[in-house]
Amino acid sequence: MAAYVAALPKVELHLHLVGSAPPDAVLTLARRHPDGDVPTEPDALAEFYRFTDFPHFLDVYRRVNLLVRTGADVVTLVAGLGAELAARTVRYAEVQVTPVRNRMAGIDPDDLAQALVDGRELVRARHGVELGWIFDADAALGLPGAEETLRFAVGHRPAGTVGFGLSGAERGVRRADFADVFRAARDAGLHSVPHAGETVGPAEVWAAVRELGAERVGHGIGAATDPALLAHLAGHGIALEVCPTSNVRTGATASLAEHPLPALLAAGVPVTLATDDPGMFGTDLDTEYRLCHTDFGLDRADLADIARTGARAAFCDDPTRQALL
Ligand code: HPA
Ligand code: ZN
Repeated sequence: MAAYVAALPKVELHLHLVGSAPPDAVLTLARRHPDGDVPTEPDALAEFYRFTDFPHFLDVYRRVNLLVRTGADVVTLVAGLGAELAARTVRYAEVQVTPVRNRMAGIDPDDLAQALVDGRELVRARHGVELGWIFDADAALGLPGAEETLRFAVGHRPAGTVGFGLSGAERGVRRADFADVFRAARDAGLHSVPHAGETVGPAEVWAAVRELGAERVGHGIGAATDPALLAHLAGHGIALEVCPTSNVRTGATASLAEHPLPALLAAGVPVTLATDDPGMFGTDLDTEYRLCHTDFGLDRADLADIARTGARAAFCDDPTRQALL
């Protein structure tokens, strides 16, 4: 099965740029910026990456994000990500970038846009991997942060821009509050891909679909308890970007044994597998596919179906999609 998964051409549709940085890269940045409040030794970093709950994870993520301070840092992250994707036979990936957080870390928006263009070209030339960008608003930064995110996405629109997202906390921040910004993003031709139902139940997934026009949903596992919502997702072909290891590591689900992925598949919901923050969760896309076999009993045909579902749900061009179907 490991060889089968390794050879299977895949897409990866839920992946945060900063969260993709492997521990070595984060240690290098932490040593370069010792004021950054991130450990500089491997054991301490591993401990730092032991998340007690979802808010703790978000705090760690924010601190690591603050270590990425220049356009050159961004190109380094994109290049490292491209090599990792190529090693997992990933042909196309959509990568989430949070430009307001990057600006808060000191990166000029013009430099960020140029770094994304340069990094994407480098990854295509070196590895033949296509990248798309999803610019996501951090819910913790409220409407002003979401509006700034949209200004970046539409104003700079670096090559590869495909979507508009919403990440961060779900408790105490309602998806519906961002409806106007998502409407403006969709009017500007961006696909709607918010996180929803990662740590809360179906109501926020409904809100993502109804209020934000979600075409895919990040995580969405909270939908599993609502048969009408499952039927809606299945009927409208709205894919969930499911990240099992992430969910266990952040405490969104208690264990893989309790993970709803099998129930989502049984309800006919399109499911694509992803890593979310592979550098922080110690995972990679092949590991996610393999655990679907070992923990959920999926066979080769099921895994090939999941890979094809990803190709259908991707915002790539048709030749890229056809090559994966
Ligand atoms: N959810 C919310 N915010 C995030 C995530 C996530 O999975 N990863 C990085 N920021
Ligand atoms: Zn995510």
